[in-house]
Amino acid sequence: MCGIVGYIGESQAAPILLEGLAKLEYRGYDSAGIAVYDGTKINMMKSVGRLKVLNELTHDGETLPGCLGIGHTRWATHGSPTDVNAHPHFNMDESITVVHNGIIENYIKLRRRLESRGYEFVSETDTEVVAHLLDYYYKGNPIEAITKVMHRVEGSYALGILFKQHPDEIFAVRKDSPLIVGHTSDGNILASDVPAVLKYTRTVYFIENEEIVRLSKTNMKFYNVDEEELTKEPTTIEWDVAAAEKGGYEHYMLKEMYEQPKAVRDTISPANPRIKDNKIEIEELNMTDEEIRAIKKLYIIACGSAYHAGVTGKYVLEGLARIPVEVDLASEFRYRDPIYEENTMAIVISQSGETADSLAALRDAKAHNVKVLGIVNVVGSSIAREAESVMYTWAGPEIAVATTKAYSAQLIALYLLAMKFAYVRGQIDDAQLQELIKDLQRLPDQIELLLNNKEKIQRFANRYLASKDVFFIGRGIDYAISLEGSLKLKEISYIHSEAYAAGELKHGTISLIEEGTLVAAVLTQDTLYKKMISNIVEVRTRGAFVLAVTNEGNTEVEKTADYVIYIPQTNSYFTNSLAIIPLQLFGYYVSLGKGCDIDKPRNLAKSVTVE
Ligand code: AGP
Repeated sequence: MCGIVGYIGESQAAPILLEGLAKLEYRGYDSAGIAVYDGTKINMMKSVGRLKVLNELTHDGETLPGCLGIGHTRWATHGSPTDVNAHPHFNMDESITVVHNGIIENYIKLRRRLESRGYEFVSETDTEVVAHLLDYYYKGNPIEAITKVMHRVEGSYALGILFKQHPDEIFAVRKDSPLIVGHTSDGNILASDVPAVLKYTRTVYFIENEEIVRLSKTNMKFYNVDEEELTKEPTTIEWDVAAAEKGGYEHYMLKEMYEQPKAVRDTISPANPRIKDNKIEIEELNMTDEEIRAIKKLYIIACGSAYHAGVTGKYVLEGLARIPVEVDLASEFRYRDPIYEENTMAIVISQSGETADSLAALRDAKAHNVKVLGIVNVVGSSIAREAESVMYTWAGPEIAVATTKAYSAQLIALYLLAMKFAYVRGQIDDAQLQELIKDLQRLPDQIELLLNNKEKIQRFANRYLASKDVFFIGRGIDYAISLEGSLKLKEISYIHSEAYAAGELKHGTISLIEEGTLVAAVLTQDTLYKKMISNIVEVRTRGAFVLAVTNEGNTEVEKTADYVIYIPQTNSYFTNSLAIIPLQLFGYYVSLGKGCDIDKPRNLAKSVTVE
């Protein structure tokens, strides 16, 4: 998704903007630009391509002098990636410039209205409409102009705005797209996300929907859409800069895979441990035992890997707590007019906490008086703040677009929830709970073991760089594992892959299996093991080469599969946390072998803050 930064202070703005944009690169982009006020006019430089192009064009910012500016990395939505479509965008007399993350959904209507009033557009973007609309409403009061624009535009936005007539201030406003502001040692800064400001401050203000910000060198003011001044409390960011850096690894994704043991430990036992006196305590749930016992149905709503964690959550919550669970893709849920019954609870899972579809689904559930629990990684993100309660996954900052440690932490959060609900609802007794806790607490070391034995999967991956189609099959929780294993491969290696419920293959897809087709079969569920062996035989007789991922001790699978990866023994509800490790490594090493951009795969963004 797009990233915005803004700075006003005693220092030269351009280098600060460029550095801030570099910290937002992980959000995915295809062009970038900055605009700086030099005391007389607003100068701008923008270009398609990576940030280094912009650094070269501006000699690392030297060609754009001034202490007030805004910058942007664009992930194209309206208008192809070109220099002209890159942000910032000017109004016609270049007295106003704007950067934008989000989508103005009614931009065509507004553009026509403005063109009929003589405004001339130079780009294909929705954002340029905002620049001209600000011009249309600006009569000397920027806050008034901004609130009028807010009443006219529909959609999502985080805007950074410069008014040439107000050279001592930067303005910003948000609706649905993230925005934070903070003090630096000699001024103030705004950005889409924490990594861009961490170098300057840990104390940030998360801007809420329809709040306006007015920054001067020494001052920070907040307003609501009625132009009334607001007071806001800051949040202290606990992350350290190193945690958000690569730490010597070749890629953020590899670093974050190796941080999974810590992410799992920290999610089991954060500052406020979730296991106390051998019981599961999740205080942030804010639910009494009675309320837990009263739950009649759960909706789990998410996108991408978070959705795959949710599919696992369904099996674990239904298996342990015997609560009916519906898992939905957020983009489907928000439009299918879901049926909310009495005592329904929704769980929205999101690493970034800013995914537009997941946020919209959360709002729909809340609008129907459904209790919403967020399982979120980014502290203070929109989903975290708008959910009734939030259970953080303490995975730390995740930069690689392909999630690994946050996904593993989401699984832990779901296991804890299932164990808590199962115990409170009398579905498991003390002995069973102790057994589960013991298995849960062994997971970090077992993950570490798998990571440290990566060579076998690395060698295997190098044999499949030229694959055209890869299938991942499994049953039950192993199907959920297959979903995530497939996504990891395709999103970073660009090899087509699909996950299939193994029992469903014979209903059509098996016709795609040819001589040499790679099939990854996941068989960690003892009760489904024999069925999976039959499915392996099915695809092998049609020419498939089968990689099996199974529990230590299942050696007879070697008679059936061509290549076997073993995972340590754990509770059958927790096997996803282990089986996904070799599949993450497989995707990583195939992508590495193909020379793909592992941390920033094409067309993808770390946080999809638009529909
Ligand atoms: C997973 O590797 C992808 N980056 C993507 O599927 C991601 O999980 C999805 O966009 C949801 O993001 P969120 O967890 O931040 O809501």
